[in-house]
Amino acid sequence: MLGSRALGAAGPRVFSGVQPTGHLTLGNYLGAMRRWVEVDQRRGDALFCVVDLHALTVEHDPGRVRRLTRQAATLLLAAGLEPERCTVFVQSHVDEHARLSYLMECTASDGEMRRMVQYKEKVAQRAARGESVRLSLLTYPALMAADILAYGTQEVPVGADQAQHVELTRDLAVRFNQRYGETFVVPRATHPKVAERVMDLQEPTSKMGKSGQERKTGVVYVLDEAEVVRKKVMRAVTDGGSDVAYEPEERPGVANLLNVLAACTEGDPRELAGAYGSYGSLKKDTADAVVEVLRPVRERHAALAADAGYVDSVLRDGAERARAMARPRVDAAYRAVGLLA
Ligand code: TRP
Repeated sequence: MLGSRALGAAGPRVFSGVQPTGHLTLGNYLGAMRRWVEVDQRRGDALFCVVDLHALTVEHDPGRVRRLTRQAATLLLAAGLEPERCTVFVQSHVDEHARLSYLMECTASDGEMRRMVQYKEKVAQRAARGESVRLSLLTYPALMAADILAYGTQEVPVGADQAQHVELTRDLAVRFNQRYGETFVVPRATHPKVAERVMDLQEPTSKMGKSGQERKTGVVYVLDEAEVVRKKVMRAVTDGGSDVAYEPEERPGVANLLNVLAACTEGDPRELAGAYGSYGSLKKDTADAVVEVLRPVRERHAALAADAGYVDSVLRDGAERARAMARPRVDAAYRAVGLLA
C-alpha cells in the first residue's frame, strides 16, 4: 500500500497545482514541474494537484477536461514525482477544496477579487470577442486560496504570474485568523530561479501558454515528438541583427532561445551567447537540448499511460491522503465561523 509510510515530516509543507486547460508545455516543465521533482518533493512534505475545478472557469469540453486531467497527472509522474515521497492527486477528488472555497468567498471582498491582474486581462480578452465571463473566473482566487490553506501549506512553488494570487491567499489567511481565531498557516510563494518564463517561440513577448483549443506553432508541448520539437525551435522568430547576444529587452526572441538552452543544459544564458556565431547554430543546439530533456519524460509517459491501473491507484491513494490532511483544518474553519457543532 502506498499510503502506509510517513511523508517527509521534517520539511516544510509544500503545495502546488497545474491546470488541465491544455496540453502541458515546455514552459510548464522547465518553469515548474522539473523543480517540483528535483527540489520540492525532496525537501518537504509536498502535495501536487491537478486542479480540474479551475479548468471549469472558462468554456470547457467535459471529455477534454477529463482527458487532460488524466494526462497531466500521468505527466507529473512521468516527470519524476514519486508517490513514495509526495502526494499526487486530482482536486475534484477531494471535496475539501470546494468546501473551503466558499468560506474564502465569505472572507474576501468583491473589490480585491476584481483587482486581480489575471482576471482583468481575461475579462478584457473575452469582452473584445464579445464573450461572457463565468462567475467562477472572478472567484477563482478564493478556490486557489482554499487549495493552499486547506493543507497548512507553508510554501507554494509557482511562476511569477501567480504571485498576486498567493499574496491574496496570505491576506485571506491573516484576515480569517484575526476574525475567527488562529486556523490557517500563512503561506509564501517560492519562485523558480531558472527559466522562470519560457516565452512563445513565435511571439517571444508573451508566455508559452498551454490554454486554447488549437495547438500553436510557438508552443512546444512536453509530449511533442522529437521532429515536431525540432521544427518548432528551428522556426522560432529571432530578432534583427545576426550576432548572438543576450539582450532580453531588445532581442526577446534570441534571449528566449538562450534561456531555454541554458535551462536544458544547466548553463548561463549570457555565457552561452558568447559561444555562438549565428542564429542557426543556436537554434540547432537548442532544439537538440530540448529534445533530450523531454525524451525521458515522453518515454515514461508512454509506459505509464499503458498502465491505467497504476495511475488510478496512485490518484486514489493520493486523494485519500489529501483528504485526511485537509479535513481536520477545514472542519476547524467551519466551526470557527459558526457552522458545525
Ligand atoms: N492558478 C494556478 C495557475 O494557473 C494553478 C493553481 C490552482 C495553483 N490552485 C493552486 C497553484 C494552488 C499553486 C497552488 O498556474
